[in-house]
Amino acid sequence: MPFQIIVGAQWGDEGKGRIVDWYAAGADVVARFNGGDNAGHTVTVGEQTFKLHLIPSGAVHPKTIAMLGNGMVINPATLLGEMGVLRAAGLEISSERLKISYAAHLITPAHKALDQAQERARGKASLGTTGRGIGPAYTDKAARRGLRMQDMLDPAGFGEKMEAHIEEANRRLKGLYGADELIPRLLVQEYREYAELLAPYIADTSSLLDQALDSGQTVMAEGAQGTLLDLDQGTYPFVTSSTTTAAGAFTGLGLGIRPVEQIIGVTKCFQTRVGSGPFPTEVFETTAERLRGTGANPWDEFGTTTGRPRRVGWLDCVLLRFAVRVNGLTELALTKLDILSGLNTLRIGIGYRSGDQEYSQLPLGPADLSPFQPVYAELPGWQADLRGLRRWAELPEAAQTFIRSVEKMAGIPVKMVSVGPEREQIIRVEPA
Ligand code: GDP
Ligand code: IMO
Ligand code: MG
Repeated sequence: MPFQIIVGAQWGDEGKGRIVDWYAAGADVVARFNGGDNAGHTVTVGEQTFKLHLIPSGAVHPKTIAMLGNGMVINPATLLGEMGVLRAAGLEISSERLKISYAAHLITPAHKALDQAQERARGKASLGTTGRGIGPAYTDKAARRGLRMQDMLDPAGFGEKMEAHIEEANRRLKGLYGADELIPRLLVQEYREYAELLAPYIADTSSLLDQALDSGQTVMAEGAQGTLLDLDQGTYPFVTSSTTTAAGAFTGLGLGIRPVEQIIGVTKCFQTRVGSGPFPTEVFETTAERLRGTGANPWDEFGTTTGRPRRVGWLDCVLLRFAVRVNGLTELALTKLDILSGLNTLRIGIGYRSGDQEYSQLPLGPADLSPFQPVYAELPGWQADLRGLRRWAELPEAAQTFIRSVEKMAGIPVKMVSVGPEREQIIRVEPA
């Protein structure tokens, strides 16, 4: 029963979508276990580019079963839109191929309004959320007043629950934030329509996954966001509200603890972050513009979900080692190697310094990184354009050295590198 988990090893946007798509060629089921439409996962196949927010990236393969796990928070309007986009691209999105956990929570316009009101109220201390209602939806889940997919199966009861939810949220919106109230009647009607459309897809995904694994099928768990955005392990409070790390695959899919064949961490060969929070290896001005791009290319570092320019910096191996440890990563997939072409000197953060003290690992987790300055190793760059290369032996020596250095720093093998966003732009790394 091969079970694989893919997670982001940084602050999200590592290229998980394209790596999941690569592995999904050999998977029977791909299941998302956390987050909501704060995620934006890009899969490029030939001329077609898919930007998926809720449906697992594996769904771009026509035969793979796609599941949305109980650990997710689902905005039904986004989901229905995404189902439409995939159908328009000729992919079958039937209730046989798409399954939504009955225990996944719903995101409503009240959650979005609360997210935005809370961010406004935080002022300069705002977290820079995606404004998609993620925090408030998980808050309602933990407060045991959330709406679940299962509620949609009982139209009368669902209407009442939805109305009570909007009324309660209105009290918070008006009382705490002086924000506009929402009109319950209109939203109940809207969500009843979503319920009717989504009902056929609601299933016991936990049990289906268990059966799939028992019968020897290959199941791949797809994480959203990244390790450093994990609610417990990340750069708290500048995190998202779900478990983004590998253990979340068990709780977020309703699976009992079992052996995992591979736990793949996806990392860019540099570092990016959207929103506020610490970032020791961040760079600015010319180097930042070089790593970010100008926005002229689809892969330049501007948010898939919000379009915000991403903050950029050098690869931080202190944080990468942390990600290896808290996820139990068995291997890395290193993305965007093509972007480093043309830089004369490359830097990798190998440690931190605070006063006259040096650290190779975090003394107290990543929440407070402010006392640390990065210690860098410098490596020679390469000039060649890597985008057309497909074999390890073709890579310039300096690129091979860069990959070997990352392996050494991380303590686990880099199994593949990507040299462009397209499905085929992947090079398998030869074992060291
Ligand atoms: P995810 O959220 O982890 O799935 O990543 P995103 O899709 O948000 O962001 C990754 C971006 O980098 C997307 O625009 C991808 O198409 C692009 N991308 C992924 N791998 C590569 C690569 O090897 N080279 C280049 N140039 N772009 C890549
Ligand atoms: P994928 O799956 C990058 C960031 C937001 C913000 C913080 C909290 O595409 O990698 P939230 O809306 O979740 O409450 O915002 O988390 N964030 C992401 N950054 N990629 C993502 O998803 C993200 N999802 C949330 O920018 O800093
Ligand atoms: Mg993304």
